Amino acid sequence: MKFFIDTANLDQIKEANDLGILDGVTTNPSLMAKEGITGTQNILEHYVKICNIVDGDVSAEVVSTDFEGMMREAHELVKLHDNIVVKIPMIKDGIKAIKALTDEGIKTNCTLVFSAGQAILAAKAGATYLSPFIGRVDDITWDGLDLVAQIAHIYDMNGFTTEVLAASIRNPLHIVKCAEIGADVVTCPLNSILGLLKHPLTDIGLEKFLADYRKGNA
Ligand code: G3P
Repeated sequence: MKFFIDTANLDQIKEANDLGILDGVTTNPSLMAKEGITGTQNILEHYVKICNIVDGDVSAEVVSTDFEGMMREAHELVKLHDNIVVKIPMIKDGIKAIKALTDEGIKTNCTLVFSAGQAILAAKAGATYLSPFIGRVDDITWDGLDLVAQIAHIYDMNGFTTEVLAASIRNPLHIVKCAEIGADVVTCPLNSILGLLKHPLTDIGLEKFLADYRKGNA
């Protein structure tokens, strides 16, 4: 399972990248705004900064909702850096754009996915990645992990090559469960990745090992 970080914060991207386990980055307009990155030119420059940190796929989201606009933006985005994957919303013109971009050999990430039906359409259109939003499904008291498992099963059964990129991850358990149910990629906040490190028995055990070492070497 690949690990992406879901942020536009350069320090957090560097910190995750320095761990040596990072395979890519996802962003969205809300994450850009959270970092105070506004205006098209600034946003484009920020994508380049991210691409220069991480050697892996970097999702950059279009903000047009019509086919022509999405295609125009996609062509601008892919010129920025070889790592760019164009993030396209799950709407009718989005599916058309994913198909057209796939035919041109441009990688896409279909975002804002909340159902298996949407996942099938995106795979048929040839999306490179599909982003079901776990946390936002959980927020409305459905089960986001069940959705990811259902999509992973459908893709396996049908031989779809689209990678299931589990998004809207809110905690380390989401990551573990995604690994169990067959997500190809998880995109996570830094805190959720670092949460995987934690176990009280590790801390207690390390403290004891170091104390015993100090006794023997006093
Ligand atoms: O990758 C999508 C993600 O950024 C959405 O996360 O926590 O806003 O639902 P969240």
